[in-house]
Amino acid sequence: MVQAKKALAKKTRATSTKTQTENYKNYIGGKWVPSRGGDRIENRNPADTRDIIGRFPLSTEADVDAAVAAAAEAFDGWRLTPAPRRAEILFRAGEILMRDKEKYTRDMTREMGKVLKEAGGDVQEAIDCTYYAAGEGRRLHGFTTPAEMPDKFAMCVRQPVGLCGLITPWNFPMAIPSWKLMPALVCGNTVVIKPAEDTPISTYNLIKACEEAGVPPGVVNLVTGYGETVGARISSHPSLRLISFTGSTETGRTVAYACAERNAICSLEMGGKNAIIVMDDADVDNAVEGAVWGAFGTSGQRCTASSRLIVHKKVYKKFSAKLVERAQQLRVGNGADPKVDVGPVINADAVEKIMRYIDIGENEDGATRACGGNQLKKGDYAHGYFIEPTVFTDVTPDMRIAQEEIFGPVTSVIPTKSLDEAIEIANGVRYGLSAAIYTQDVNRAFHAMNETYTGIFYINSATIGAEVHLPFGGTKGTGNGHREAGTQVLDIFSEWKSIYVDYSGKLQRAQIDNKKAIG
Ligand code: UN1
Repeated sequence: MVQAKKALAKKTRATSTKTQTENYKNYIGGKWVPSRGGDRIENRNPADTRDIIGRFPLSTEADVDAAVAAAAEAFDGWRLTPAPRRAEILFRAGEILMRDKEKYTRDMTREMGKVLKEAGGDVQEAIDCTYYAAGEGRRLHGFTTPAEMPDKFAMCVRQPVGLCGLITPWNFPMAIPSWKLMPALVCGNTVVIKPAEDTPISTYNLIKACEEAGVPPGVVNLVTGYGETVGARISSHPSLRLISFTGSTETGRTVAYACAERNAICSLEMGGKNAIIVMDDADVDNAVEGAVWGAFGTSGQRCTASSRLIVHKKVYKKFSAKLVERAQQLRVGNGADPKVDVGPVINADAVEKIMRYIDIGENEDGATRACGGNQLKKGDYAHGYFIEPTVFTDVTPDMRIAQEEIFGPVTSVIPTKSLDEAIEIANGVRYGLSAAIYTQDVNRAFHAMNETYTGIFYINSATIGAEVHLPFGGTKGTGNGHREAGTQVLDIFSEWKSIYVDYSGKLQRAQIDNKKAIG
């Protein structure tokens, strides 16, 4: 999950605008405009909070209403633009993203904290998604099927949903907005998007690319600000037919309630507590590398993070020792430094929450803190949000650190005696996003693949690293049955229309006038 941010510790309300820092604007109806209220939020670097990246509109409900009105105005023009033409514009946006990848990467590391390599991956995911959505402009396949009666034809086509509200998180600040935006656009919808208040510049860059590519005014509208105002208004706006949300399970439920009030479509992508199972026949070194990457990549701030490592007791000691050794080697620091492995966490609230869980793990759950566990505050760390990569061992499945999503650089090693027990432990949480197994035995691998109740599964690889042409999403507390990415995302952003053509020239009543082949 991506926690809803309440305290203004990182992004404080800006009362003075005397410095050189750039003031960014909302994008509504093809124009860059300030918030009607005039207030702004500071976007600060989580590796060094003295570094102010920019000030973004602290928007109000009136700004959302204006954005929705612009989206309504643009809808007919966009939906009636042939899909292959819409796709050409998206393809151009992909080329712009590619051209400016390096700058976007640096912007992202500066506002979000993830190391440059990973920020580059995030931008690349947005590029991949944009090209992939553009390709769909010449497909957007419907289907034909036989009708029940002679001289009758049946087919199904996709139609745009209408006006869509997109609410996106800070942990993948360009990739996740693109997962929603590009498919929404190729399907012929118009959009109001609200990025997380911690990471507006990456979405700003994405929207700038759309503008430069020639997306017409009003088709995409950007409104920045807090969830409590902007997010809440988007979720409940009567003209928005669809809300797509990625964030915490709790906030997702609030969004779903707001949508239920007006029967709006609601697509939710929420928390995870993902497990890697390591069997006794696994290549332990490879499993350790997978665990390190899965647990500490993006400082553990991924819905897909490998936050539980369920390890067969025959290799438990060896695996734990190597994992701790590797975790201790990781260099924590400013993600802009290419030598750094693990960047800061996003803000002061995140530090507080993660440190609370570390305390719970050690003092309430009674797990062994095998390494890490400290906030780093001295020297270069003094002005950022840094936490050591932390490994807990001797964890049992019912402990809070093994049940609740921490969303930070903390992982738990849980011993197990068998594959079936490991699968039971893997399934024994309220989430169902991703799972993985390390084994050399194909039978075990397929058995685990079949029995884990998750939307994503990896064999001999960590729980992170989804590609854009496969569906992404999960079961239970992770989602509400939808999948983003892949062609499956088109089922979120288009509605099916079934069409019957009777060319018999007479009345043929379905279910009544059918000539039975038998009997
Ligand atoms: C998330 O964790 O919120 O599969 C998204 C992955 C990335 C996307 C993660 N491609 O890890």
